[in-house]
Amino acid sequence: MKVLVTGGAGYIGSHTVLSLLENNYEVIVYDSLVNSSIESLNRVEKLTGKKVEFIEGDICDKDKLSEVFEQFTIGAVIHFAALKAVGESAKIPLSYYQNNVYGTVCLLEVMEHNNVHDFIFSSSATVYGEENDVPYVETMKLGTPSSPYGASKVMVERVLNDLALSDSNFRGVSLRYFNPIGAHESGQIGEDPKGIPNNLLPYVAQVAVGKREKLSIFGDDYPTQDGSCERDYLHVMDLAQGHVAALDWLNRHNDFTGVEAFNLGTGNGVSVFAIVKAFEKAIDKTIPFEVSPRRAGDLPAFWANATKANEQLNWHAERNLTQMMSDTWRWQSSNPNGYLA
Ligand code: NAD
Ligand code: UFG
Repeated sequence: MKVLVTGGAGYIGSHTVLSLLENNYEVIVYDSLVNSSIESLNRVEKLTGKKVEFIEGDICDKDKLSEVFEQFTIGAVIHFAALKAVGESAKIPLSYYQNNVYGTVCLLEVMEHNNVHDFIFSSSATVYGEENDVPYVETMKLGTPSSPYGASKVMVERVLNDLALSDSNFRGVSLRYFNPIGAHESGQIGEDPKGIPNNLLPYVAQVAVGKREKLSIFGDDYPTQDGSCERDYLHVMDLAQGHVAALDWLNRHNDFTGVEAFNLGTGNGVSVFAIVKAFEKAIDKTIPFEVSPRRAGDLPAFWANATKANEQLNWHAERNLTQMMSDTWRWQSSNPNGYLA
């Protein structure tokens, strides 16, 4: 079966493409490379010994997308392509809504036109907003995230629900990721943020490799065990395998139509201080840090109830925190400048 993967050259996309190839799916990647490098896919090809069809294009370009659907017989779409920087989204909200919401609508229109109905969407824990208690469970109502980025994910989930109500052939899965970290165990592919990293692990890894002086820990006065924020960190290869599990689930459930949401997380909250300690232990080196003020919009703590994915997708996050840290380090230390090196 041929799977179209939008945003497949990016961090989660490249790891998922690798998992798909290892599970005998054929892959076509469609990516504008706005936040990634083609080198990630070259490396996936080397690691798997399989070919990745690559088309450079924007999801907002319906003509180009249409050509892809005409050229290939596509069975399903996994949709990663989006802008994802929470802070930036408050500065340029229109770009985020254009790219993440309008772009997704363009893709869905082209899919509908070509009678492709199976769709897996990169959603986020952020859709639970500030209203819901932890652990988050899929039966909770969609919340109100504090950022335009988060709002764009809620909007797309609404679009999918409305589409499913109007089109009895549509088969959608929203995968709500918690905090993916780590890298493929080979150290050949990993997260390669442009500029100063926004997320915790890439920042810690860049401090460890000497690219940044010290980590700022955003707040130690939260109502948590050690005062720093708690998140549900999961290994990116477990997350990648979650996409294969979701595709297998769609293929097993021929009679399914509608939209299902699944949380992909470990079910455990881990604090920022605990992450720093775990990283230090994995690399046997100290990470210099300072505590600085809270970052606007951060919630104190959230983690997943992942029972639905465990039971229905037969998926579990299997890799532990030690492996997440050592794989991050293997990637960062052997590629200090990411894919540019
Ligand atoms: P990423 O930036 O590494 O990957 C996104 C990819 O999409 C990049 O290769 C980029 O070039 C491409 N892209 C962006 N806009 C495009 C467009 N208009 N047309 C074509 N390609 C485009 O990010 P990632 O961390 O791999 O995230 C993948 C998806 O998962 C995103 O939808 C993101 O919102 C979602 N997500 C990520 C996280 C996380 O912590 N990384 C958490 C929850 C959800
Ligand atoms: N943090 C620091 N210092 C840093 C970076 C982060 O202390 O330099 C802290 C943050 O305050 C937060 C924790 O580390 O407490 C994790 O921060 P990340 O930015 O790595 O992750 P977030 O949980 O803030 O964001 C993630 C995804 C977003 C998504 C959001 C909500 O990256 O895509 O979860 O689901 F919107």
